[in-house]
Amino acid sequence: MATDLVYAICRMSDIPSQRAQGFQLMRVGDDGKERAWPIIVVRWGRQVFGYENKCPHDGVNLDWERNQFLDPNGMRLMCGKHGALFELGTGMCVDGPCKGHWLNPVPLAVLDEDICVVGVQLAEDAEEDGPDACEEAG
Ligand code: FES
Repeated sequence: MATDLVYAICRMSDIPSQRAQGFQLMRVGDDGKERAWPIIVVRWGRQVFGYENKCPHDGVNLDWERNQFLDPNGMRLMCGKHGALFELGTGMCVDGPCKGHWLNPVPLAVLDEDICVVGVQLAEDAEEDGPDACEEAG
């Protein structure tokens, strides 16, 4: 993994604490091809957690309703279609059809109040779309 790759996707202040937001990124694979790469960013105070927006049991996006990622208590990520529940800080499924499986983690870092994806090659236009994606969902 190339750790010198850093892409800012939004400002820390764009996501309220204890909320999750989706981003539609484009990733460049080892074969040089670009693929849609939807991710979820969870913010909890000063901490951020990133996961691919893809349920381990059926491969669908968790937000059956757009950008609705949390369970009614706001304590877990939830698949809106089948109700699987995932720990916010680990991505482990604690209930539902994929119990014991994990969301794929996305490496994030906070640099100068920007939430950044690190070590992943993104398509250039995704970088420019990032801030827009933040505003659009706010
Ligand atoms: S797709 Fe896995 S619980 Fe919904």
